[in-house]
Amino acid sequence: MGSTNGKSGETSCALAKDGNCPGSSACGQPEASSCGQSADKKSGLDLLPVNDYSEIGRVVAVASGKGGVGKSSVTALLAVALARRGRRVGVLDADLTGPSIPKIFGLSGRPGVIGQALAPVESASLGIRVMSINLMLEQEDEPVIWRGPIIGGVIKQFWNDVAWGKLDYLLIDLPPGTGDAPLTVMQSIPVDAVVMVSSPQALAGMIVRKAIKMTNIMNVPIAGLVENMSYATCPKCNEHYELFGPSRAEEISAETGLAVLGKLPLDSAVAALADRGQIEQYEADHLPNLAIRFEDRMNELPKRPSITA
Ligand SMILES: Nc1ncnc2c1ncn2[C@@H]1O[C@H](COP(=O)(O)OP(=O)(O)OP(=O)(O)O)[C@@H](O)[C@H]1O
Ligand SMILES: [Mg+2]
Ligand SMILES: [Zn+2]
Repeated sequence: MGSTNGKSGETSCALAKDGNCPGSSACGQPEASSCGQSADKKSGLDLLPVNDYSEIGRVVAVASGKGGVGKSSVTALLAVALARRGRRVGVLDADLTGPSIPKIFGLSGRPGVIGQALAPVESASLGIRVMSINLMLEQEDEPVIWRGPIIGGVIKQFWNDVAWGKLDYLLIDLPPGTGDAPLTVMQSIPVDAVVMVSSPQALAGMIVRKAIKMTNIMNVPIAGLVENMSYATCPKCNEHYELFGPSRAEEISAETGLAVLGKLPLDSAVAALADRGQIEQYEADHLPNLAIRFEDRMNELPKRPSITA
């Protein structure tokens, strides 16, 4: 597995500022000295090794405490923003019962085969590599009604049996909440960090705290928070309106210690382009900043040691 920034093996906590580990918000370890080792400890569990067809820099799960906050849209937009910065990006759609990544990118092709593995389908303009159950189904609108163990098995296959190639980032679009499927991802895939997505409405402290707790139990650090649908901009005077009430990002950030990676507006262009499968055409001033903050934050986090078969 490629180590793009060689942070593995650090013993001191890369998150700690002034020697204080942010504890509850980041790695859950009370002492800075033990923080960077959480990944080692976790790799002693049953994390899956990277296959021969993949070399992945950082694995980042995109989570939300609640459905419908725009997690898949934010995953896609982050992928686009990173790809525009020249990063090689893949998206693993772990939301098997509500897969939406292929539609957002306008993908309908079938995965190819490379040796013993499946080849992800690449997006048209930026070459973002996508694997989703929707790319495997006979009909796109076929409902997936599998139960937990089968869903877990498919998610593992998306890691084990997919030739991701060389990637800087693999983003994982998690299903909403803290159920079986997000747990399977966190317990079996070597996730380096989690991005939390919320809307001002869903940013009710309890929901976010619950999601934070889950990542702490799993020993995965949180890269930060993205507040989606944070405001709307008047097309005439450019003024910002807080349609869903005042932003709560700063408040939650102060309470939990999470970094705010970005606040994305409610923008009809996002919905329209996602509907048409043209999210790669989306242009907005705030998008490059999201990628920059995300990458800055990822560079602060310790790299998970590589696991080889
Ligand atoms: N910033 C935004 N501006 C406008 N529309 C948005 C924005 N973010 C998401 N949407 C729209 O809101 C709807 C829900 O978004 P999305 O599917 O990304 O949410 P989700 O959290 O992944 O949902 P689920 O819980 O079902 O997986 C979609 O129609 C999407 O196009
Ligand atoms: Mg979704
Ligand atoms: Zn106005």
